[in-house]
Order: sequence, then structure tokens, then C-alpha cells
Amino acid sequence: MIKQAIIPLAGLGTRLLPLTSVFAKELLPINGKPGIEYILDECIDAGVTEIIFIISKKKEIIKKYFYNDNFYKSIIKKKKDPRIINEYKKILKYKKKIKFVYQNKPLGTGDAVLKTKKFIKNRYFLMLLPDDLIMKKNCSKDMIKLHKKYKASVMASMTVKKNNVNRWGIYSISKKIDKKNFIISDVIEKPNTREAPSNNAVIGRYILSKDIFKILKKQKKGKGGEIHITDSIRTMINNKFLFVGHKFSGKYLDCGSMDGYIKSTLEIAKL
Ligand code: UTP
Repeated sequence: MIKQAIIPLAGLGTRLLPLTSVFAKELLPINGKPGIEYILDECIDAGVTEIIFIISKKKEIIKKYFYNDNFYKSIIKKKKDPRIINEYKKILKYKKKIKFVYQNKPLGTGDAVLKTKKFIKNRYFLMLLPDDLIMKKNCSKDMIKLHKKYKASVMASMTVKKNNVNRWGIYSISKKIDKKNFIISDVIEKPNTREAPSNNAVIGRYILSKDIFKILKKQKKGKGGEIHITDSIRTMINNKFLFVGHKFSGKYLDCGSMDGYIKSTLEIAKL
């Protein structure tokens, strides 16, 4: 059963400067709703009951967003606005499910994941990267179904432009299961065009097993001097852990770059 999800939120968000100089990118509005709420809705709808946020001291504004009870209570007392009451109820619903852990130095996604080690209860958990929104179809739900069938780790994937491979984790396929699903035989973090085994990229949804923590503990720095989750996944694949790739059917929106964020706000309004 996948009941826990983890969400790394401790990155600096430099691609969205100047917006991120004083604000968390995950709270930026996308059609009137903070990006992180789309991610929370996806998790909850997929049956997740506990969501672990990995934040840093610099990003405590995220915690504050969910813990602003006194402010809401005083406003609701003065103004019995049903819209505000509903918004507060929604925040309370999210808050009940969220736990916070800290990664104060942004050493990389792998290091962020390692911070959740002692909180993970079952063998498998879900990880979502909040820059990647997948609309119209619940990708996490589909991946959980796949995980149940194959008792394996699962990664979401899509085809990207060949000249863009250096932005993603790029994988190779050893065997097709069906049109949308396949067995992954290797993955490389942000390869250059020559190194890339394909133009199939890993997108920010993962079902991982606790076994990754042992590998993460020993994980050396990789590209850009960061500890990447992709490098530990590669070790797991080499050690014969089964990783299934899933080509999702929803609409992908990249909210982590300025260009992508602007496009996402326009695209989502059309859905
Ligand atoms: P990215 O490296 O893609 O984004 O991390 P970033 O660091 O937030 O932003 P840029 O690249 O400077 O613009 C992917 C996800 O992993 C989290 C980020 O918050 C983001 O959600 N992350 C990254 C951490 O939690 N800790 C880290 O050390 C690095």
C-alpha cells in the first residue's frame, strides 16, 4: 500500500528569480491556486494519507501558509464570508496530512530524500517534484496501480526534444510491457546529447522503495556537485531492483522555469 508521499521543496528556485528571492515558487499562483495545492490534490486523490514536505529555514513561508490559523479565525469572526470559510477548511484538510522535515543546505534531491528516512513506514512511498504538474489525469494514481501489479518501483516518463536531454534524467528501456509501460535498464542524470541513451525523460513522479536510503547514505556528489536521486536509482537498477517506466497520459506543465511557469498559467486556464 502506498500511503505516504514525500515532496522535496528545499531547492533555491534560481530559475524563477526574481520571484523566488523572497517567495517560495511552490506558492506561486497558477490560475488562482498555489502550485503545491495541485500536487496535494493529486496525492490525496491517489489515496495518500500522509505527505512529508522537505523544506528549509529559508522556505518556512510554506509552513506558514498551512499554519495561519489565528489570522483566518480573526478574519472569519469579523467577516462571515463563505468563500474564506471554505478556503480555511481546505487548508485545515491539507494541514492534517502534512509533516515537515528540514534540509537546510540544498545539497541535491538525493540528500533531500534522505532526510525523510526515519519517517517512512511502509516499504514503498511516492515522491512528487512540485515543478512538474500533470493535469487531466492522476499520474500518481495510475503509477500506484502499476506498482500493485508489478510490486516494483515506478517512474513517470515522457519523450523530450533531443536537444533538451541535458535538463532531465534520461533512461533506456530493456523491455516493453505494453504501449505505456516498460522495464527500465538504465538512467543518467542530465546527460549531454552524445551521452544520452535516448530522449525518454524521467518526470517528477516516483514510487521508490526504502532500499534507496542505504544507497543514498553512500551516494557521492554528481553533476553540478549535487547529490542526485537519479544516481542512486541507477545503482538500484544495476543491483537488479525492478523499475517500471510509465508514459503518463495527462497534460504536462513545467512550472520550474520562468518560461514554463508563464506558459503553465496560460495553459491551465484553458483546461
Ligand atoms: P531543482 O534543482 O529542479 O529545482 O530541484 P530548484 O533547486 O528548486 O530550482 P532551480 O534549479 O535553482 O531553479 C527539483 C526539486 O527538488 C527540490 C526542489 O525544491 C525542487 O522541488 N530540491 C532540490 C530540494 O528539496 N533540495 C535540494 O537540495 C535540491
